[in-house]
Amino acid sequence: MVEDGNPEGSAAAGDCSRNRSFDSKHEDALKMRLPLQDKRVLVTAAGQGIGRASALAFAKAGASVVATDINAEALKSLDGETGIETRVLDVLKDDAVNAVIAATGPFDVLFNCAGFVHSGSVLDMADKDLDFAFDLNVRAMIRTIRAVLPSMLARGDGSIINMASVASSIKGVPNRCAYTVTKAAVIGLTKSVAADYVTQGIRCNAICPGTVESPSLQDRMKAQGNYDEARAAFIARQPMGRLGTPEEIADLAVYLAGATYTSGQAYAIDGGWGI
Ligand SMILES: NC(=O)c1ccc[n+]([C@@H]2O[C@H](COP(=O)([O-])OP(=O)(O)OC[C@H]3O[C@@H](n4cnc5c(N)ncnc54)[C@H](O)[C@@H]3O)[C@@H](O)[C@H]2O)c1
Repeated sequence: MVEDGNPEGSAAAGDCSRNRSFDSKHEDALKMRLPLQDKRVLVTAAGQGIGRASALAFAKAGASVVATDINAEALKSLDGETGIETRVLDVLKDDAVNAVIAATGPFDVLFNCAGFVHSGSVLDMADKDLDFAFDLNVRAMIRTIRAVLPSMLARGDGSIINMASVASSIKGVPNRCAYTVTKAAVIGLTKSVAADYVTQGIRCNAICPGTVESPSLQDRMKAQGNYDEARAAFIARQPMGRLGTPEEIADLAVYLAGATYTSGQAYAIDGGWGI
């Protein structure tokens, strides 16, 4: 049917609408390819380092991300990023965790990234440091898991990713007792959650990085006095001859956020340190 009395024009209009429909189908196809399209993701410790890189990578993969950190100033570096809203959150505080999750959830994915590295052997380790390491590296993860899990179970779907380390039950690392003990506990927590909920649509996996370039690693290297020497020593323990980047770890976090056939695993991503 000729609608505008101009067969050529109508042919052109036909082409145009064909193009429009091709374009929108193409756009839909592109959207469908985004692995985390329409997923809501909560990230802790997203102000810098691996947490920040992961928040950006989740958003790039199509997710709506709630990026949280105790440090409001650090979170500002995510202001204006598409797909990311930021919230100040201290994961050591029960009420704050519950309030933020109630206000921003439910979530399809939880990335528990907050953690702290203490130095020292079992003889050096102060009880207060061990307590703090358990509070931040382990109990805070239990707190966030308890807050997100009920809604994941109600929907029969959810992915929980816990940040462990290769310094854990995977590998003993000198001078890292509190850290290694607590990161091993993270792997235990991961396996426990995975085992309890594997038949109910919940996956829970741990990421175990080697040494990754991050602000706190920079601080640790500077604290050793001779920065260059400290950096060389950190690099020397990575068989691949370099430090990892936060973006490399973020890629694994994106994979695990969308992965549907793996649970209870501790994924080493460590430049060959664990070989
Ligand atoms: N960088 C590495 O070499 C490395 C290696 C293995 C594992 N990890 C783990 O990766 C995670 C991130 O480390 P990173 O080095 O990328 O980052 P980072 O240590 O540089 O930054 C940590 C972030 O955690 C935030 N934070 C601290 N206390 C918090 C609290 N109570 N509540 C909320 N946020 C808090 C800080 O403000 C900061 O933004 C940690 O769990 C760490 O143990 C790091």
